[in-house]
Amino acid sequence: MLLLWMWTIAASAVAAPAPRTEGQRLRAAQAPNVVLVASDAFDGRLTFHPGSQVVKLPFINFMRTHGTSFLNAYTNSPICCPSRAAMWSGLFTHLTQSWNNFKGLDPNYTTWMDVMEKHGYRTQKFGKLDYTSGHHSVSNRVEAWTRDVAFALRQEGRPTAELVPSQHEVRVMAKDWKNVDAAVAWLRTQGVNQTEPFVLYLGLNLPHPYPSPSSGENFGSSTFRTSLYWLEKVSHDVVTVPKWLPLSEMHPVDYYSSYTKNCTGTFTDKEIKNIRAFYYAMCAEADAMLGQIILALRQLDLLQKTIVIYTSDHGELAMEHRQFYKMSMYEASAHVPLLLMGPGIKANLQVPSVVSLVDIYPTMLDIAGIPVPQNLSGYSLLPLSSEVVKNEHQLTDFHPPWILSEYHGCNANASTYMLRTSQWKYIAYSDGASVLPQLFDVSSDPDELTNMATKFPEIAYSLDQKLRSIINYPKVSAAVHQYNKEQFITWKRSVGQNYSNVIANLRWHRDWLKDPRKYESAIGRWLKAHTTPEAVRRK
Ligand SMILES: *[C@@H]1O[C@H](CO)[C@@H](O)[C@H](O)[C@H]1NC(C)=O
Ligand SMILES: *[C@@H]1O[C@H](CO)[C@@H](O)[C@H](O)[C@H]1NC(C)=O
Ligand SMILES: *[C@@H]1O[C@H](CO)[C@@H](O)[C@H](O)[C@H]1NC(C)=O
Ligand SMILES: *[C@@H]1O[C@H](CO)[C@@H](O)[C@H](O)[C@H]1NC(C)=O
Ligand SMILES: *[C@@H]1O[C@H](CO)[C@@H](O)[C@H](O)[C@H]1NC(C)=O
Ligand SMILES: *[C@@H]1O[C@H](CO)[C@@H](O)[C@H](O)[C@H]1NC(C)=O
Repeated sequence: MLLLWMWTIAASAVAAPAPRTEGQRLRAAQAPNVVLVASDAFDGRLTFHPGSQVVKLPFINFMRTHGTSFLNAYTNSPICCPSRAAMWSGLFTHLTQSWNNFKGLDPNYTTWMDVMEKHGYRTQKFGKLDYTSGHHSVSNRVEAWTRDVAFALRQEGRPTAELVPSQHEVRVMAKDWKNVDAAVAWLRTQGVNQTEPFVLYLGLNLPHPYPSPSSGENFGSSTFRTSLYWLEKVSHDVVTVPKWLPLSEMHPVDYYSSYTKNCTGTFTDKEIKNIRAFYYAMCAEADAMLGQIILALRQLDLLQKTIVIYTSDHGELAMEHRQFYKMSMYEASAHVPLLLMGPGIKANLQVPSVVSLVDIYPTMLDIAGIPVPQNLSGYSLLPLSSEVVKNEHQLTDFHPPWILSEYHGCNANASTYMLRTSQWKYIAYSDGASVLPQLFDVSSDPDELTNMATKFPEIAYSLDQKLRSIINYPKVSAAVHQYNKEQFITWKRSVGQNYSNVIANLRWHRDWLKDPRKYESAIGRWLKAHTTPEAVRRK
């Protein structure tokens, strides 16, 4: 492929970034455009068999046929802001300290898009970004800071399915459609007539569940909403009711997640199937949004000059493991879609290697012919998806046979670390000693119901050693613990005299107000225990 040859030349020729020279301008002009469409909460398993049987996703299928799909792509942190921080920085969550939805990258962080811009790309973003610090509700961050306090309070409304009144409604998620329209309009007016290549980002909210204002003043998002039009894309007879472990056999951190997500009550099979069907219908609507972009590119004759990438920040449990939302290392939450299509990308290729969202950064640079720095956490996906294998690629450029995902936010009461290899999923918690690890053989136990950690202690041990060689996770957990306490103390001080009122009125108010003194004193004991001299001083 001519284009690939040109990338290779560019990759070996380009030296330091900015200022832009004429040569860089020329090389950039030969590089392909890139369009990245990123969903929120799209379960990656729906993009290949057998998950793909449950709902019609014509545009994802189109990308699969005309491009390369990654069968084992994972988020580096299963919640919005930390996951997006990893994708935009190319660095693992602990390296940027993107601990929760409130703590991501600095607003001025140099992302791959900034680097591409410096190298001559025209850049444009539409829709949901959410990779910088300072966003999301007060409830969300206080829940994250206090996750080690010895209590469990229900934070979310009960998950429900809701049909919109208008049967034929196509544009249910109006805000997303507005952004899709804006992106299409940009392609028509700006994209077509570029003398320089462009990189366009479109962030969708779908298929993330909708807010539930019926839960009161501080509501979360537990409503799966769609129209009959999208529900008709779902094959209802293959919608499963996931197997659950009895409450008493759940891993303690999973139990905490399920409890805080208000899912430990009784659910009928019909209710569960309904929630799942509505979620799949929301995925179909997201697919149609991706479709608008693909159709516009085709109509504008840009498809053969543009690499299209589709992915998501994390998945959605949709009642698997007695939970909805994400914040978990189970497949439904951690497995993301990742498809590439365009010039030089192999058609109809399915790649089984484990990859993750930190790979987006080096892939973007590789597409643009920009040298990839050595200090990133990810690896370019081009060697795995190119039509021609570039012999310039050193062995070290190839992706290692594992990925790392970590979680430090709300709804899980211990920092969580997943090492995923081709066969195993190993999940360690906290300091590696006080909470039992989990080990799943994902190929023989796709439902992840049998923890093999005690049955195969040697495997668990060797994976734990491997994990520790990548990340000193007990130290990271301790740093998060410390950060949480300090943030909480600072926030408490800022609320002043009104602290009791404010804390009692967060999302968890229904449980809290039953016994406010009990919960306040639990926080008091937590603040006293192991509070470091520094935190004491600041108090
Ligand atoms: C970003 O801004 C912070 C202050 O807000 C500053 O300390 C930091 O050096 C800046 N980083 C870059 C890359 O400009
Ligand atoms: C949890 O769900 C129950 C119904 O199962 C509901 O009555 C309650 O209000 C929910 N709790 C919260 C915090 O929304
Ligand atoms: C793009 O450029 C071509 C040729 O210069 C011109 O005919 C066309 O009208 C332009 N399109 C837009 C949308 O500006
Ligand atoms: C997490 O919460 C569960 C349920 O409340 C509890 O059994 C467990 O001990 C907690 N684990 C940690 C590490 O705090
Ligand atoms: C990585 O290296 C580049 C120079 O190649 C430097 O600008 C950047 O700050 C480094 N990033 C990290 C996280 O060390
Ligand atoms: C105190 O907190 C309550 C509940 O959040 C709020 O309604 C009230 O306005 C606050 N009062 C002051 C003085 O901040």
